[in-house]
Amino acid sequence: MSRKLYPLLASLLVVATLLVACQPATPTAAPTEAPTAAPAGPSGKLEIFSWWTAGGEAEGLEALLKVFQEQYPNVEVINATVAGGAGVDARAVLATRMQGGDPPGSFQVHAGHELIDTYVVAGQMEPVTFLYKEGGWLDVYPQDLIDILSYNGEIWSVPVNIHRANVLWYNKAIFEDNNLEPPATMDDFFQVAETLKAAGITPLALGETWTEVHLFETVLLGTLGPEGYAGLWTGETDWNSPEVTEALNNFDRMLNYVNEDYAALSWDQATQLVIDGTAAMNVMGDWAEGYFKAQGWTPGVEFGWAPSPGSAGAFDALSDSFGLPKGAPNRDAVIAWLKVCGSREGQDAFNPIKGSIPARTDADRSLYDDYLQSAMDDFARDTIVPSLMHGAAAAPSWQQAVIDAVSLFIANRDVNAFQEALASACVDAGVCK
Ligand code: GAL
Repeated sequence: MSRKLYPLLASLLVVATLLVACQPATPTAAPTEAPTAAPAGPSGKLEIFSWWTAGGEAEGLEALLKVFQEQYPNVEVINATVAGGAGVDARAVLATRMQGGDPPGSFQVHAGHELIDTYVVAGQMEPVTFLYKEGGWLDVYPQDLIDILSYNGEIWSVPVNIHRANVLWYNKAIFEDNNLEPPATMDDFFQVAETLKAAGITPLALGETWTEVHLFETVLLGTLGPEGYAGLWTGETDWNSPEVTEALNNFDRMLNYVNEDYAALSWDQATQLVIDGTAAMNVMGDWAEGYFKAQGWTPGVEFGWAPSPGSAGAFDALSDSFGLPKGAPNRDAVIAWLKVCGSREGQDAFNPIKGSIPARTDADRSLYDDYLQSAMDDFARDTIVPSLMHGAAAAPSWQQAVIDAVSLFIANRDVNAFQEALASACVDAGVCK
């Protein structure tokens, strides 16, 4: 099996936080001396746009910015974040800014379709291939990752990490108290869920729409297997097949075991239910690991993890990256930022806190905890498939059609209509006939 990464209105609350702007040291020289030469390196303001506002992800970003500020103390960083997990709100704000000719210095964007189909094909980005050549990065990034960052012979962004989407997190104390093992298969999941329900514990924590889509993609993967799942996005798997029906029925059944207030919860609030012990499990990307740790939990002590039901041997992957918008203010500072994003030092500061593994292959493994080391091992040997919800698998318009179909399904629980909507979304995307 090739380990190829498959081609991979809102309340717009803009929280712009001015990070510590390290001022150059006050000169102590006598006032009669000639003015000192301007400090080396870029200066001025640099706006970094992301949606990293929750526990773990915000601290990870701070750690990366710290590395940047140590190397470029004369740049004043504006940490511009738009709250809303998975970037659902940030992407809308960004699109408006890009259309209006007001790009930030650099912005978070998922590797794959989200990057290429949106801003690259529209001619709004500058290629960054030169950074890969100058930094020797062509040798330290996996070729499959470089492939999904590439278009028309150029590379278009700098990835800081690899996240895994198909992880089931569980409260170890609840599992021990109820003599349970983490469910490996869908059938195991339903058995465990029944036991938990009988014990008065919500089996599965769930949140707002995008977290439902996230759960849904892991159910597709767990039911169809990696080849079947990946084929959904290339037209090789038939959306009308009985296997897909089975996946939709599994998803439908899973929804019987979630917290009632799911629609009102963000991903981190849903994860918090597992910490509080009101829910036993959560299916979420490994940014949840960053969240658990930010709340003082230790991997393997208070929380455990397993591939989401049925998905052992598959790694549902996504990557956060940063790019160079055309017309970015303070281009020199943006390039300095991208160099830090692509550096081993930057990635080794960011990822152990973020709950992701480095995109570079030469990281210092000893800096990563047990969960992250296991993720590194799985990434090296599992079949890699692209995440839908996190921008890798499908064009944004197709992704949105799936989000809409999931939303409707959650409201009406009509499996037939759901399958029809999904099948026609593939046709509309031009991938299925
Ligand atoms: C994902 C992103 C992660 C994390 C998560 C929750 O889309 O790739 O880095 O931020 O959303 O916000």
